Amino acid sequence: MSEKGKQRDTEEQAILEIRDVSVAYDGLVAVNGVSFCVRRGDIIAIIGPNGAGKTTLLKLITGLLRPSGGEIWLKQQRVDRVAPHRIASLGVTQVFQDIQLFSNMSVVENVMAGCHVWTGASFLSTGLRLPHSRAEERNISDTALRKLSLVGLGQKAFYSPSSLSWGEQKRVGLARALAAGADLLLLDEPYGGLIAEEIGKLSQLLLELQHRGITILMVEQLTDVVLDIANQVVVLRYGEKIADGTAAEIQGNEQVIATYLGNGPLEGDER
Ligand SMILES: Nc1ncnc2c1ncn2[C@@H]1O[C@H](COP(=O)(O)OP(=O)(O)OP(=O)(O)O)[C@@H](O)[C@H]1O
Ligand SMILES: [Mg+2]
Repeated sequence: MSEKGKQRDTEEQAILEIRDVSVAYDGLVAVNGVSFCVRRGDIIAIIGPNGAGKTTLLKLITGLLRPSGGEIWLKQQRVDRVAPHRIASLGVTQVFQDIQLFSNMSVVENVMAGCHVWTGASFLSTGLRLPHSRAEERNISDTALRKLSLVGLGQKAFYSPSSLSWGEQKRVGLARALAAGADLLLLDEPYGGLIAEEIGKLSQLLLELQHRGITILMVEQLTDVVLDIANQVVVLRYGEKIADGTAAEIQGNEQVIATYLGNGPLEGDER
């Protein structure tokens, strides 16, 4: 295929394109001329040491920050001057690491709270069970239950969130994002605070979501777990991209090895 043909092919598959994006906080350049492409249906990991600009990059994608230079394209639309709620309505949801569930609501009600984004039903009207919203409420609760089953929590739909493990609570957050109609999930250090058994479960779940067509962009400090499941890995250091490729390519990249270890093979951290 010609170079032009290849480029067109990539553009068509891309759900998200970051083009030469930069941003600074009070003069400190946190992201500097970063470009990469996220293919639809991939799991992409952005890795890099503390302060590399990973979380800042997520804020640029969700619209919480505006880049000082460069462009961000989501589903063929330029979004770097678009408000966060409009970007969310295009199917992008960030699942926060410190998910806080409503403790006075059941697990499924917490997931239903995500559905209100797309139905427009107010908490009040559904909460009061007004007649006009009953059919809609049933629809919402069916969706929420399906998403809970998908993340392996169908049996705990009517539990209180406080009875769930930390890993389970995080999965409720994923179910909520899916219930809100997200097809591009942004995860900031999703493995943070998980015990070994939950780490394996989360990887399995992310692969299952990918199998169902969800695109996942996650940010992590270096972990072997991430390298295991990502189709593409982008490495940041001091706000700049220093490598971009498959896990195998990244593991063999001398600059990446130098960044993390000084020498020797690239390994995961000790979580
Ligand atoms: N709100 C802010 N105001 C000023 N500087 C900030 C702000 N947020 C981040 N920074 C700085 O910008 C740089 C990038 O920070 P960022 O949080 O994006 O890094 P990170 O890769 O997510 O790091 P970590 O692995 O610690 O989460 C760092 O030097 C950080 O100190
Ligand atoms: Mg961060």
